[in-house]
Amino acid sequence: MGDEQGRFRVFIQAPDPERVGLYFAEKGFGTGTAMGRDMLMMELDERSGAVDGMMNLLNSDMFLQRRVNRAYLCDSCEDNIDAAIREIEDKAAAGARFRVVAYPKKIEDGIVEKLDSHGEALDPRGFAYVAYIVSIMGKYFFGLSGRGRYFARPSIMEDRLSRAYYKIAEAFERFDMHIGKESKVLDIGSAPGGWSQYLSGRAGLCVAVDPAKMEIERANIEHIEKTFQDGIKEIESRAPYGLAVCDANIDPRQVAEFIAGTPGLISDGGAALITLKLKYKSGKSVQRVIDETCGIMSKSFNSITVKRLLSNTLMEATLYARKA
Ligand SMILES: C[S@@+](CC[C@H](N)C(=O)[O-])C[C@H]1O[C@@H](n2cnc3c(N)ncnc32)[C@H](O)[C@@H]1O
Repeated sequence: MGDEQGRFRVFIQAPDPERVGLYFAEKGFGTGTAMGRDMLMMELDERSGAVDGMMNLLNSDMFLQRRVNRAYLCDSCEDNIDAAIREIEDKAAAGARFRVVAYPKKIEDGIVEKLDSHGEALDPRGFAYVAYIVSIMGKYFFGLSGRGRYFARPSIMEDRLSRAYYKIAEAFERFDMHIGKESKVLDIGSAPGGWSQYLSGRAGLCVAVDPAKMEIERANIEHIEKTFQDGIKEIESRAPYGLAVCDANIDPRQVAEFIAGTPGLISDGGAALITLKLKYKSGKSVQRVIDETCGIMSKSFNSITVKRLLSNTLMEATLYARKA
């Protein structure tokens, strides 16, 4: 066996691994190391309880469950795959039933084939152990874990409403946002209504602005069926708002100009949340749009934070701004 006792490498397979690393850092783990486009490597000490902590988080956190595809727990490393397979064979010979979880997935079938002589031990449903094998950077990382250390991604049935709902729910959690029943909120680009649904459960009134149809109706959701540019009079007549949100697929600088530039729109102590749609050609233009949007918001908000939420698409980030 190649490694130090108690040191685990947990490989987390997910698109945009840096963003997942930042999420783990907020939860008290390190940021890990991104490897390629879809793998994050976390180095954890078994004795600190971090391995179980991470598996518990993966199996309970609804935002991670939507973003992470697979997790592999490895405590050994070899230059060739045979040593890894011998370990599994020893366990199989002792009667353990296990499931093989390998990366890249295409090597999984080959490994299962090699283990064919222990056919009855391979049991992807009733397994007691998981055999993890990760082939990356010319090395083979592997580990055998009990079933309790297996990440099973739940099958998630999603429509447009619930996808949007996760995004606002994650924003509330990550930015530590609060809104009370006494507040009014403004939801720009509100259709089909996932954010309005979430917000109307917390605020007194949700003013939803979108030329498209809303799929939910509630007594405290008022729909202005216009673009925000055409609905300015109606929006202003209901001000001030404790929170303005925007998930419209438009240039975020336009909406920032409106929210930060309209006197009396947001109350003192109020806040704004804007999805930054970043479909620009180069990384440089993406950064420029983020910087310029922050610059515009800073005219009337004191604290501004941009995060890439797990629930954002790969072409989005989320800006949160607060007034003192
Ligand atoms: C991604 S959807 C919003 C999803 C919404 N947050 C939800 O929870 O269901 C974007 C919406 O922005 C709206 N939109 C685009 N431009 C707009 C504008 N100028 N003013 C208001 N809404 C706009 C579109 O009609 C579309 O319904």
